[in-house]
Amino acid sequence: MSQISIKNTGSLRGELIPPPDKSISHRAIILSSLAEGKSIIRNFLYAEDPLSTIGAFKQMGVEIAISHQPSAVSRGERPLALTEDRNPETEITIHGKGLTGLKEPKGAIDCGNSGTTMRLLCGVLSGQPFSATLKGDASLTRRPMKRVIEPLTQMGAIIKSENSCPPLNITGGKLKPISFSSPVASAQVKSAILLAGLYCDGVTTVSEPEKSRDHTERMLRAAGVDLSIKGLTVSVQGRAALKPFDIIVPNDFSSAAFFIVAGIIVPGSELLIKNTGINPTRTGLLKILQSMGANIKLEHKREVSGEPVADIHVKHSGLSGIDIAGDMVPKTIDEFPILCVAASLAQGKTKITGAKELRVKESDRITAIAAELRKMGVNVEELEDGLIIEGQEKLRPALIQSYGDHRIAMSMAIAALMTDGETTISDTDCINTSFPGFMGILNKLQQAK
Ligand code: S3P
Repeated sequence: MSQISIKNTGSLRGELIPPPDKSISHRAIILSSLAEGKSIIRNFLYAEDPLSTIGAFKQMGVEIAISHQPSAVSRGERPLALTEDRNPETEITIHGKGLTGLKEPKGAIDCGNSGTTMRLLCGVLSGQPFSATLKGDASLTRRPMKRVIEPLTQMGAIIKSENSCPPLNITGGKLKPISFSSPVASAQVKSAILLAGLYCDGVTTVSEPEKSRDHTERMLRAAGVDLSIKGLTVSVQGRAALKPFDIIVPNDFSSAAFFIVAGIIVPGSELLIKNTGINPTRTGLLKILQSMGANIKLEHKREVSGEPVADIHVKHSGLSGIDIAGDMVPKTIDEFPILCVAASLAQGKTKITGAKELRVKESDRITAIAAELRKMGVNVEELEDGLIIEGQEKLRPALIQSYGDHRIAMSMAIAALMTDGETTISDTDCINTSFPGFMGILNKLQQAK
């Protein structure tokens, strides 16, 4: 189990390229595996979570080739960036088997730490004429699956589990379309139902209480599926053949978020975060930070493979506390740990409510971030569905634990930049689930003065 040590070395300045988007990388593997023919995925996130999705489809007989291209930086297609020594760009070639071409896997499919792999696979497996078992690591084994088991069972799948937690044994079969109103705003639930809907005769509909990320909808349309979106309701027409596609995955806003906040809270900093996805269902953090007073500009806005992308320019700014609730919550869902770090350094109180979902992420993120920020001297009150954080000027160095949660580990690494002294974070292997180059980028930015 590795640990990292971080010291405050003053301002962070320069350019960086965050890793490719995790949510889009998962979906690209799933939909191209179900398409008929060859797809190419460029700028794939070569990290543990999406590799679990690749492993699952390989186990079900899909041919997937992974190649590492010389990085676009060294080809001169991108400006020389601080990350020029990052992993070369990963390109995936997939020969999709069509909706009905998957093979029964031998042995259980291991989803590792990845909730997205497990919940989206539940949707796909519900439509297969075989049984399969999905398992995961200790954290995933504690996560609730009832939210997908219920609608998929209504559609006709047989899903066995103990207390609705993994491992799950899924026997698929002939599915019937449903109209499901999800009690949680969850892209994983919505996607699982839409994927199962591909196997139905007729139209499957899912509504959610607030809008969650819409990458599945965008990619299904790119694959030629007939999908309609009306407000918070999405409907998919089943039984269509999926067309193969070539896509370039944008860089991950949720990984960029650590450096967006670092550039704002560390005095004297200025960062340009390149080629980053700014899908409006993901970027609640930008709106919240701007309302808190942050200097953030989006430059070179464009569309890449059906997703909006920009370079994000941030400068050190003073922040004021804010109240966060309602439809901002799902748009910020993975960014709350790092937002709590920003709130710890704002003037006044920040109150987050309506965010109970944080309790069932890779860790209980409400308890985890409250406990670790308190070690750094922050006054934090835990609510059932959120937190109240009192901002202050400086933080104290501390011995921090990650709870095996990548976003807690990286958020606390950024918090450490606001202390005088050295902070050690233990159990940091989890960072590899989403952002293998995190410490390399941070070290380079710290040295680039
Ligand atoms: C994800 C959806 C979100 C998010 C997770 C990735 C996705 O989870 O927290 O990190 O790729 O669909 P929920 O659907 O549980 O909100």
